[in-house]
Amino acid sequence: MMALTATACCKQADTQSRQEAALEVINTRVSVRQFTGDKLTEAQIETILRAGMSAPTAVNKQPWAFVVVDEQEVLDRLNEALPSSRIGNGASHAIVVCGDMQKALEGEAQGYWVEDTSAATENMLLAAHALGLGSLWVGVYPIMEKVNAVSQIIGSPEHIVPMCLVVLGVPNEQPAVKDKFKAENIHFNRW
Ligand SMILES: Cc1cc2nc3c(=O)[nH]c(=O)nc-3n(C[C@H](O)[C@H](O)[C@H](O)COP(=O)(O)O)c2cc1C
Repeated sequence: MMALTATACCKQADTQSRQEAALEVINTRVSVRQFTGDKLTEAQIETILRAGMSAPTAVNKQPWAFVVVDEQEVLDRLNEALPSSRIGNGASHAIVVCGDMQKALEGEAQGYWVEDTSAATENMLLAAHALGLGSLWVGVYPIMEKVNAVSQIIGSPEHIVPMCLVVLGVPNEQPAVKDKFKAENIHFNRW
């Protein structure tokens, strides 16, 4: 076998460390529900939003909108409407991930907006974790009571449907990583 040149060797090591870093972030993300109360920076929020909007969407429609909430009054109202959000436990921001029905596909495919916004949400959780921050996915859609409450709080128009909240902050707990790999959930070729 031909000996690797110094450059090729460096590239290989670089690729390996990128792979390890990416997989480490994916496999060690956990939901965080206790935060220090410290505020995230605008740069951190932008990094998280960029990761969200890097997600794949059906026919590349990007049928979404993101409402970044950092005003205490609005955070308090969201916390009251969705106590399971734990915003009251020192969260810095909540990003309301919404579907935009004016940008969504039509007909039977319209429902893909849920997958699209979910992919964006997971990307945001992973980006937050990569930055050393804590995050929590808080379900809203399809519970219409929650959808209506969040819409009212953020004042969104009719065609905007809140899908979930991404609650963000500086972590004040280190929950254990759950090993969810189950071989029984995998099938090859046929059921
Ligand atoms: C659709 C959805 C809704 C969720 N809603 C809440 C919620 O309201 N409150 C909460 O504490 N966690 C919520 N979670 C987080 C889950 O409880 C959490 O992901 C799950 O327990 C697995 O833990 P992990 O994220 O640490 O791996 C939600 C997650 C998803 C995907």
